[in-house]
Amino acid sequence: MENSLPTVRVQSGTAGSARADLVVHPVVADGLREALRKLGRAGTGLGRRAPAAEFRGRVDEAFVQTTDRGIVMLAGLGKDPGADAWRKLGARARREGERQGARRVAVYVGADVARPDVLAAVAEGFLLVGYRFDRYKLERRAPRVESLVLVGEKAPKPAEWKSVLDGVAAVVPLVYAARDLVNEPPSVATPTYIAKHAERLAVETPGLKVETWGGRRLEREKLAGLMAVARGTHEEARFIQLRYAPPGAKRRVALVGKGITFDSGGLSIKPAKSMETMKYDMAGAATVLSAVAAVAKLALPVAVTAYAPTTENLPGERAQKPGDVITFMNGKTAEVLNTDAEGRLVLADALALATKAKPDVIVDLATLTGAARVALGGAYAAVLGNDQTTIDGLIAAGRAVGEPVWQLPLAREYKDDIRSTIADVRNVGAGDAGTITAALFLEEFVGDTKWAHLDIAGPAFSEKETALGGKGATAFGVRLLVEWLRGLAA
Ligand code: BES
Ligand code: MN
Ligand code: ZN
Repeated sequence: MENSLPTVRVQSGTAGSARADLVVHPVVADGLREALRKLGRAGTGLGRRAPAAEFRGRVDEAFVQTTDRGIVMLAGLGKDPGADAWRKLGARARREGERQGARRVAVYVGADVARPDVLAAVAEGFLLVGYRFDRYKLERRAPRVESLVLVGEKAPKPAEWKSVLDGVAAVVPLVYAARDLVNEPPSVATPTYIAKHAERLAVETPGLKVETWGGRRLEREKLAGLMAVARGTHEEARFIQLRYAPPGAKRRVALVGKGITFDSGGLSIKPAKSMETMKYDMAGAATVLSAVAAVAKLALPVAVTAYAPTTENLPGERAQKPGDVITFMNGKTAEVLNTDAEGRLVLADALALATKAKPDVIVDLATLTGAARVALGGAYAAVLGNDQTTIDGLIAAGRAVGEPVWQLPLAREYKDDIRSTIADVRNVGAGDAGTITAALFLEEFVGDTKWAHLDIAGPAFSEKETALGGKGATAFGVRLLVEWLRGLAA
């Protein structure tokens, strides 16, 4: 089975008692002596070699050795480890386990075994980093690691740790699902394919309802931006809504995700190099679909609807042209000066539609601008919006789960840059501050509704291995949204 999850358990025990093919001992900065003391006889050999190798327990340091109890890894945790350090430690344990061909991995967490946040973080890192996308490879390495045991003194009751780990195991497969959807080649993960995926989620998850619009329905609903972008391709556009509305919900939230399944730029065509990874231009859609499904699985008391406008952006013979004007459902008009600024056009429809449903707040996620990637790189998403409380909440949630976001100003000063001579707005700015002018364009479609926009062009896809995953799709934002929605529901 592809990407099946290893089992995770918690066990009471001392440092010396942990048994597995690989036993990991986290060591805080300058905590080597203490760690070796706890290991007692089990640490024989390590006692001399680790200090000689100048292992100090600094963050990301590791010392691996074969002992008579199997392979032992001392893993540096740095000073005052937070959830992030523990999560990365879980990931390092998994990676070392795979490298060593271990089937069973144990991590000794000491007295921290009593902390649900530590258990969840280590398990999450361990599970997240095990993701692979190898279905197009002739040779697939079978994953070897089968289990993780978290060992420490005075473990909580099984009912307690099981509910903590169940929470993790509910979300991780949806992170995987979002990564799969993004990693699939663009001619596979078409709008129809994403709609089927959403339908499958709705069938599998109690409480979820899906609605998909295509063809004439897009016209009737006046989804003018989506239709304009879709003119350049034979692939049919789909507007997908995935809803979770539990009785007694405390809040109503709309999540909007950009779903361009391939962005060639349209007639304002991109250079070949820039097109190589443009299958990931639907990461926002993949992320919001997974987030809603996760909320349903966790049965959080908050009503959430994902809106995902999906289409290709191609330069077919009927493609929209630079200079064309779109009239949106809220009556606003936009002059399309660059067909490669297509994300804001399909998001405009989705935001206007979401706004009509009068949710308490809207959050959109979009691989919207190369400028966001230039400004913040692959680690941080940009956040902008009209409601500071929402923005602060998203920043805090991102910090908690290791998906950091950084605020940029929704600067009124640049509003003039998106004024058009013949329409209300134009779809490109003056060249500068591309992430901000894109957000200013989106703002035109949310009215007074509280709204925040996450530009995930940087972190949604990685050209190198990261702490929690390999190259390719990261599903950045799924865990952030779930964490933020947990907070709203509390
Ligand atoms: N999908 C791209 C943005 C993008 C670029 C995402 C690189 C990930 C990596 C978006 O549709 C786009 O092409 N934006 C243009 C906007 C410009 C024409 C105003 C851009 O960023 O160059
Ligand atoms: Mn584009
Ligand atoms: Zn795009």
